[in-house]
Amino acid sequence: MTDQTKDRVVIFDTTLRDGEQSPGATMTHAEKLEIAGLLDEMGVDIIEAGFPIASEGDFNAVSEIAKNAANSVICGLARANFKDIDRCWEAVQHAKRPRIHTFIGTSPLHRAIPNLTQDEMADRIHETVTHARNLCDNVQWSPMDATRTEWDYLCRTVEIAIKAGATTINIPDTVGYTAPVESANLIRRLIATVPGADEVVFATHCHNDLGMATANSLAAVEGGARQIECTINGLGERAGNTALEEVVMAMKVRGDILPFYTGIDTTKIMNISRRVASVSGFPVQFNKAIVGKNAFAHESGIHQDGMLKNAETFEIMRPEDVGLTETNIVMGKHSGRAALRSKLKDLGYELADNQLNDVFVRFKELADRKKEVYDDDLIALVTAGADTD
Ligand code: KIV
Ligand code: ZN
Repeated sequence: MTDQTKDRVVIFDTTLRDGEQSPGATMTHAEKLEIAGLLDEMGVDIIEAGFPIASEGDFNAVSEIAKNAANSVICGLARANFKDIDRCWEAVQHAKRPRIHTFIGTSPLHRAIPNLTQDEMADRIHETVTHARNLCDNVQWSPMDATRTEWDYLCRTVEIAIKAGATTINIPDTVGYTAPVESANLIRRLIATVPGADEVVFATHCHNDLGMATANSLAAVEGGARQIECTINGLGERAGNTALEEVVMAMKVRGDILPFYTGIDTTKIMNISRRVASVSGFPVQFNKAIVGKNAFAHESGIHQDGMLKNAETFEIMRPEDVGLTETNIVMGKHSGRAALRSKLKDLGYELADNQLNDVFVRFKELADRKKEVYDDDLIALVTAGADTD
């Protein structure tokens, strides 16, 4: 259901391209197909499936994903040269809805690598975007390291790319350098300044080097971007990319101040998070927002008591909204009597007050020795007490 008061934000997932570029996160062909299927099913608008020129394996994975995708646009990455773009097109052309994404580093540091002058790079952008657009009517262009590119040159290159036929302009914060206010202003000013900007979609692509990728992406949306580039679990080079689950849930939970919506079925988040962690070999940190093991877990007595009375006391999202069945009440040394009574009731033991007091004393002794007290430990405490009665 769409909300007329909110703007639609397109989700571009790059787990299989930027995410897989993290050292050690390589996935097999079958794993990539499985993840692409889950992304498609959960309503991701655009899947960046790989970098077809990078290897035969990447080419085959992108081609296969393109053939199988039911709804998502399938995109491949290409540097600013005809060979890359042709190879990318060869792979994505099988998709019902293909996209070519071509990029070049526009900041002074990145221009120095191919040793191009500003004018030479401008010509290159014109030629390569024109070439991509002659092959495919859906072309995304990115000025890599945009947030460290001189303002005038950034505007000039974006204008060239739009005139050459780019339909999406992505503004990458390649090294996670920007901050939220700057991120919002950059997009807002580009849209206000560059001729033709109102005819294309602006995208934000943030890295997390300073831990601000989610905030920067949402700020960019407030500035006018309508595509967020992100990965599952924030997988990506160095400190990672913007985490899909974070931006999507932020817009869902805080629709009052972030009046945007996506097409993502959020109940599929936990399952894909677990699959990506497993196939990439990158475990999710326990306290990771939305998908961490502790994101919906409570151990302290005050929190557990509050949760048992009203879940909204300490949870701003329902676990079911991200695909979990329930909140996890963890029994440990900080837990109180109310949580113990409730947990034992779930396990089938309804104790009188004096019995509960006795079990509670022994539970605290055990919890001081163990990090977590499991259901079997609790059952043993209750049944051992019964034997000696
Ligand atoms: O971070 C980056 O600049 C990229 C580009 C290729 C878009 O991943
Ligand atoms: Zn990136």
